[in-house]
Amino acid sequence: MSSPTFTFDVGVIGGCGHVGLPLALLLASKKRVLIYDINENAVAQVQAGVMPFFEEGAEKLLAAGLANDSLVCSTDPSALASCRIIVLIVGTPVDEHLNPSFEAIPRALERCLPFFNDEQVLVLRSTVYPGTSAKVQRWLRERGLNMSVTFCPERVAQGYSVREFAELPQIVSSFDERGAQAVRALFGSMNDDLVVMEPMEAELAKLLANAWRYIQFATVNQFYMIAEHHGLDFNRILQGSRHNYPRLAGIPGPGFAAGPCLFKDTMQLAAFSQNQFFLGHAAMLVNEGLPAFVVEQLAKKVPIADKTVGVLGMGFKAESDDGRSSLSYKLKKILNLRAARVLCTDPYVKDDSLVSLEEVLAEADALVIGTPHKAYKQLRIRPEVVVMDVWNILG
Ligand SMILES: NC(=O)c1ccc[n+]([C@@H]2O[C@H](COP(=O)([O-])OP(=O)(O)OC[C@H]3O[C@@H](n4cnc5c(N)ncnc54)[C@H](O)[C@@H]3O)[C@@H](O)[C@H]2O)c1
Repeated sequence: MSSPTFTFDVGVIGGCGHVGLPLALLLASKKRVLIYDINENAVAQVQAGVMPFFEEGAEKLLAAGLANDSLVCSTDPSALASCRIIVLIVGTPVDEHLNPSFEAIPRALERCLPFFNDEQVLVLRSTVYPGTSAKVQRWLRERGLNMSVTFCPERVAQGYSVREFAELPQIVSSFDERGAQAVRALFGSMNDDLVVMEPMEAELAKLLANAWRYIQFATVNQFYMIAEHHGLDFNRILQGSRHNYPRLAGIPGPGFAAGPCLFKDTMQLAAFSQNQFFLGHAAMLVNEGLPAFVVEQLAKKVPIADKTVGVLGMGFKAESDDGRSSLSYKLKKILNLRAARVLCTDPYVKDDSLVSLEEVLAEADALVIGTPHKAYKQLRIRPEVVVMDVWNILG
């Protein structure tokens, strides 16, 4: 059988996603890249040179990729047949019982299967339950495919991939030497700091990193709740404790620890430890409990049952237009049960239920800062309005 002809260096399955697209754009600055995604709207937008979401520095890369024809975007998986390396980076959520689900990856691979061949290398880049890469390799072999399987986790902070990709070491792993060479060459062409691991080590390394961050946020959030419960100003304590004291220099500030990754990856690690990951579960209780604590504290200051409460910021983190798994929405739900009226606003998140900042500032009797967007630093708030500012963005 003759060897296949590869017109693309890389094909990215899920290439219009929050981390798939920046990766595809970065690769397209050096290589010929095909984006394959089932989201027709996102594909049409990207093909037209429009970023579907905020990503620092991505617009320029997109324009350049389209202009020099190094980037092609499609909803048709057949073009994957002409990609030497296939990167898969679809979402890997936990299920309704907070257990990892193996379904997302085979579901994404199923449609592409007729266009794969043995000469290709598959790079799994979604965050996965340990052992998934081995399972994917078995799944492919059972379907008669001998392509090399590798796992190279994505570790960037969403919104800043372009900058961070070059700054962060890239973890690479493979089950065979052909795959190892391919991923060393692929990621090594963009970043010379490579860390080689075994696939299961790399899978676990990614989960540990996210669980570590989640636990750090939970620790400081619990400190916040302890201090505030006793009527003390936690941010004064934090600032004073950090002052010229190196051992606390890295302690984060309190705030809603949310988003599409930290919680679900901590739960994946909990499942991997047969639910003996007590710190992870405790972190979930603390972080997920913070919105209710904030509402409780607010209710002590204002009789919210007959008041309008405004929520400023619905994105899961500052300057983000991504409302996925944002705790501001949990806050909104709790407030809907407790307050007379809830008005929410955000300068970036697209959601028809949101109102303008002006309307919230004019109507609300109390305000909660949901997301610490820079725009909220200089607000003109009526003096009689009570403000709950976990993040201490107002100072
Ligand atoms: N968002 C982050 O900050 C971040 C950081 C590091 C790692 N990760 C991991 O990366 C993975 C993707 O996360 P995301 O936030 O980019 O998700 P996302 O939902 O933004 O992107 C996934 C993309 O895959 C596409 N897709 C879904 N099913 C498909 C299929 N069958 N065929 C082709 N395309 C398909 C979707 O249309 C979407 O564009 C997850 O495993 C996540 O844990 C995310």
